[in-house]
Parts: sequence; C-alpha cells; structure tokens
Amino acid sequence: MIFVSFVCLGNICRSPMAEIIFNKMVKDGGYESTFKVSSFATSDEEEGNGIYPPVKRLLEGKGYTANHVSKQLSKSDVTNSDYVFVMDGQNLFDVLRATNGAYSEKVYKLGSFLAPQKDIDDPWYTRDFERCYKEIYCACKNLLIFLVKKHAATVVYDKYS
Ligand code: 4NP
Repeated sequence: MIFVSFVCLGNICRSPMAEIIFNKMVKDGGYESTFKVSSFATSDEEEGNGIYPPVKRLLEGKGYTANHVSKQLSKSDVTNSDYVFVMDGQNLFDVLRATNGAYSEKVYKLGSFLAPQKDIDDPWYTRDFERCYKEIYCACKNLLIFLVKKHAATVVYDKYS
C-alpha cells in the first residue's frame, strides 16, 4: 500500500477536495489495492467540521460523494504517509515545522504536478471554487500517472478480467 496524504490549512476546502478527487481516480483506474488516501489540516481551526458547503455542493454537482471531517495533521500522520502533498508555500512551511524538518523528502506541493507549476490558491479567500477544482483535478491526474509509473514494480491493478 502507498499512503498518500493531502494537506491544507483548514482541511475543509482544498485537501478534502484533493482526497475525494484522487480517490475516485484511484477507484476508476483500478488501483484501490495500491493507494490509501487521506487529508489533513495544518491548523486546528476547523477541527471536527465538515467540508465547506460551497465545496461540497460543487463536488456533489460533479457526481462525487463528498463527506469528510476536518482533522489536524499530527507528526505520526506524516510518519505513516509515503507522500504528503500540500497546496501552498505556507502549508509546506507548516508541515516541515510540525515535523522539525524531518521527512522533508516526502513532502511535495500538489501544484508541482501542474504545467506551469503553481500553488493551489485557497478558494476560502479567492471564492473561485471552480478554478480550484480544475487545478486539483489536473494535478491529481498527473500525480496518479507519476505514482503508478514510479511504483510500477509493486502497483497492483485491480480491474483485470
Ligand atoms: P482550506 O481553506 O485550507 O483549503 O481548507 C480554508 C478553510 C478555512 C479557513 C481558511 C482556509 N479558515 O480560516 O477557517
């Protein structure tokens, strides 16, 4: 199993969106036996809260099941992850600070899988939920291709018939 975690500030907009989108790609792609996907917040501001309603509406409107409860990232969550994908520079700083810089080799910006590379801006502030969805969707698509290729020797394809 490859443990993939997505991280943002509140874990009510971007990182649950990434978890839900990536999970669907994993399922649709036939890689459920290979990837375990989670998401976390760097802050405790939204701890216990559900997905931000505009994000939930957007995802459900596109056919996703969108249920998640915000959870703050702990050091053990980073230890237990093979990859941690953050949304912006502040998230990167906060994750590395929470782990005293250990495990920095497994922390990446999700937007490094976009061309051109960019941070995934926080729709809590931009209010542009559709742009956020598009960026996360495209980055996740490239990310799945990257991970399957990188781990081709161990990846299990579930859909053979
Ligand atoms: P997220 O967005 O980090 O993408 O989940 C935010 C959600 C809540 C807050 C900030 C950003 N907030 O300040 O409560």
